[in-house]
Amino acid sequence: MSTVLVNNSVASSNVLDQYVVIGNPIAHSKSPSIHAAFAEQTRQQLAYQRLMAPLESFVQTVETFRASGGKGANVTVPFKLEAYALANQPANQLTPRAAAAGAVNTLKFEVDHLIGDNTDGIGLVADIMNNAGVPLCGKRVLLLGAGGAARGAILPLLEQQPASLWIANRTLSKAQDLRAIAQQFSPSSVVEVATFEQLSGPFDVIINATSASLSDDVPPLPTGIMTSATLAYDMMYAATPTAFLRLAHEWGAVCRDGLGMLVEQAAEAFYLWRGVRPQTEPVLRTLRTELQAIKPV
Ligand code: ATR
Repeated sequence: MSTVLVNNSVASSNVLDQYVVIGNPIAHSKSPSIHAAFAEQTRQQLAYQRLMAPLESFVQTVETFRASGGKGANVTVPFKLEAYALANQPANQLTPRAAAAGAVNTLKFEVDHLIGDNTDGIGLVADIMNNAGVPLCGKRVLLLGAGGAARGAILPLLEQQPASLWIANRTLSKAQDLRAIAQQFSPSSVVEVATFEQLSGPFDVIINATSASLSDDVPPLPTGIMTSATLAYDMMYAATPTAFLRLAHEWGAVCRDGLGMLVEQAAEAFYLWRGVRPQTEPVLRTLRTELQAIKPV
């Protein structure tokens, strides 16, 4: 386990509030360096570590950390659904956006219960609006994919009151399931569903929430859905542009990857834990420089 201690004084680690990111695998998580930067910037006294949980004992890992005095945790692959189930127990508490997402990426430990939140969607929205400077209110927004990543984005996107939110997916029934969830949490919203082939554009904002980028693939999108005024956003990021962003670039759209979403979701978790909002711009700049220094193999 690597340890990141953030401290402006000589206080020992046992007086610092303890936080972790729990996942499996976890070695490559950027969360410790992001939270270290936030803590230094805001002069918060905390320690943030990586914590590898065995695949079969997520809850036990959480409880052991909590019993040792832990204050909160980020949760990543593959445990976000288990974290949701934990926070959904009667003694605990789920935030509305975590309930809508059906997944939890942030845990906060209170004295007698824990709170499960999901900051991924608000991180996406913050990156689009504050960092890319693209408004969502009144816009035609398209979400590609209907898995966990797409579901987490829906309520925060609808809260910005787009003119319409389209959900397009290879398997139409999963997009219909997401629409039903969207209407449950935001009854007055306009949500449309389509297969990729049925789409007709243009859209103001297109967000790729499919996992196609992981295999350097891109959904079979029809031409005409993007113009030079479209923001094409991939929730994934890599040292080189994803297949979706390469296509969007070819079609003349404004392109953005998910590195800013990573930083913004962390900032929202930091705020939940500490009640202080860190500045994300310098942290994003540092991560971008580090990412660009990685040589493609
Ligand atoms: P995640 O948690 O990352 O969202 P997921 O829940 O497995 O992962 O969802 C993956 C999403 O990517 C799904 O919407 C999936 O489409 P299907 O529902 O039709 O399976 C989509 N997806 C994955 N690979 C894809 C590809 N090559 N082209 C288009 N969509 C793809």
